[in-house]
Amino acid sequence: MGLRSMAKVRSIRLKANRLTMPRRLVWPCLMFISLLWLPLPAQAESVITTDAPICNGAAPSPTMFAPRSTPAQDILDITWLVIGIVGTLGVIVMAMIAFSIVRYRHREGDTDEDPPQVYGSSPIELAWTILPTLIVFILFLVSARGIFEIEKEIAPEGSLEVTVVGHRWWWEFDYPEYGFVTAGELHIPIGDDNTPISTFLTLESADVIHSFWVPQLAGKTDVVPNRINHLWLEPNTPGRYLGQCAEYCGGAHANMLITVVVEPESEFKKWVANQQKKAVEDPAVVRGRAIFERTACINCHTVRGTVANGTFAPDLTHLMSREIIGSGAVPNTPENLRQWVYDPQTIKPGCDMPAMKLTNEEIDLVCKYLETLK
Ligand code: CUA
Repeated sequence: MGLRSMAKVRSIRLKANRLTMPRRLVWPCLMFISLLWLPLPAQAESVITTDAPICNGAAPSPTMFAPRSTPAQDILDITWLVIGIVGTLGVIVMAMIAFSIVRYRHREGDTDEDPPQVYGSSPIELAWTILPTLIVFILFLVSARGIFEIEKEIAPEGSLEVTVVGHRWWWEFDYPEYGFVTAGELHIPIGDDNTPISTFLTLESADVIHSFWVPQLAGKTDVVPNRINHLWLEPNTPGRYLGQCAEYCGGAHANMLITVVVEPESEFKKWVANQQKKAVEDPAVVRGRAIFERTACINCHTVRGTVANGTFAPDLTHLMSREIIGSGAVPNTPENLRQWVYDPQTIKPGCDMPAMKLTNEEIDLVCKYLETLK
């Protein structure tokens, strides 16, 4: 370094020294720094003490801080460990900064001379190399162990296997063991404390990348075209759990919700037995069924036992066994169902189903028919 540039560096350093903080700013700055830390403990407390938000239709936001399944609990354990370690380090660093600001602030009578400059200290340099390396190593090991526990590639013995297919913008649930397909609501059984039942999901996509995320039951897993991913759930509390497609996949992405119904095995078996049946044939609604069967509905939807065998859209064989329509866009009430048949775009803008341009009478008849699909 030439003499000139050395002089320049020194003059910059002198200027920097003159920029020391006026005393009246010290306390506001400290208060601001301490405010940054306030929300963290407050939030942590509130999420731990709340009960699991069991979601029903228009549900509250689900949270990963109230896990109700083994993998979700594993993830939360790791999260707390990481927050604990980095939080402690953060507090230490902030405290040291605050201490330095107060202790070494500019005081009256101070000169603009450089303080004594200290270069090189082997013990300190070794400490700040080895300690962070150790911390990173611990975090790496714990995360790696967690990932191996959470990412099973092969279904555990005795688990229920379900294939989940992400479509724009709904979820298809295929139960190969039982030979039926459904949509929107994933039903899974829960065991007891001694023998929990796990469900092994095979995730596929029919079009673009989606992401399957039910925060209380498992981690987020991408659903990728031409690739098969797996995920497993082992719930410990019955209830309805809400999830969300967590990868932006186009216009109706925000309305691509997931409902998981966790129920005792006996209830689950009953549900399966009903889903396996063909659609109900109610003579009272033949006119509605005839309209359904001669419109374009049948190109996209399946109603088992009728000519409708489309696979672009949800299977409607047991539509009324679901509490939601439009993949969770609205609760499945007669009013919402009618509005959906009149014009789905008013409920789920951007979805692939157009208004079928039916007359009011035809809409009523089709809805009467759909309402028999229990
Ligand atoms: Cu599917 Cu976002």
